[in-house]
Amino acid sequence: MTTADTQVQSRARLVLGNWKMHGSLAENAALLAALRAADDAVQGRIGVCVPFPYLAQAQQALQGSAVAWGAQDVSAHAKGAYTGEVSAAMLAEFGCRWALVGHSERRTLHGETDRAVADKAAAALAAGLVPVVCVGESLAEREGGDTLGIIQRQLEPVLALGADALARMVLAYEPVWAIGTGRTATPEQAQEVHRAIRVTLDGLGAGQVQVLYGGSVKAANAASLFAMPDIDGALVGGASLVAEEFLRIAAA
Ligand code: PGA
Repeated sequence: MTTADTQVQSRARLVLGNWKMHGSLAENAALLAALRAADDAVQGRIGVCVPFPYLAQAQQALQGSAVAWGAQDVSAHAKGAYTGEVSAAMLAEFGCRWALVGHSERRTLHGETDRAVADKAAAALAAGLVPVVCVGESLAEREGGDTLGIIQRQLEPVLALGADALARMVLAYEPVWAIGTGRTATPEQAQEVHRAIRVTLDGLGAGQVQVLYGGSVKAANAASLFAMPDIDGALVGGASLVAEEFLRIAAA
């Protein structure tokens, strides 16, 4: 068995839902109850990243279950005059395990730079949260043959945080052209990028970091993605809003 095989086997599967700006108290209650009821089947391998106002609801509904919860963004600052922002310490108070950082919608719609994303990851770590750092190329970048270079550029300030920091993070490869479009990367396309990320992580002594794939993951395509040696799970948007579909992805 090669070293790579050993590492694949020792990285746990993780399936995270990203609700984005969806939900209501009533809809969430039903969804969270269904996830909680599936506790045994998922054995701690799933989580949901919910809008800030629903963190208390997620905490209440999932407390003591094997389903973890988190937020979709976090401030790079610890405290201060940052109207509208939410600190990592505040998220920790609500029992969050995860904080997504650098989702492509934040990079595109809110101008988050690679540097800002790394600062947010560092702030999350400082409060004991697990940052889920998202990277991914646009369609134009892929068609320009520049995918791996873009991923490398986006990751650079995050990698510079060092192996100890990386060991407490999760990475997510989400090609922008696959998010919410129904157009998933093929398992081979995803694996190529995941392999490149894995090689980089290995070189930094951080080979155990989980790297998730995201972008139109559904129950119908999850198994073929998860069959790839360097894909450790999924970050799921639309399909995470339907409990049965989300659980089928987790079980794939
Ligand atoms: P999608 O979103 O599954 O709806 O494509 C994924 C994401 O944005 O994290």
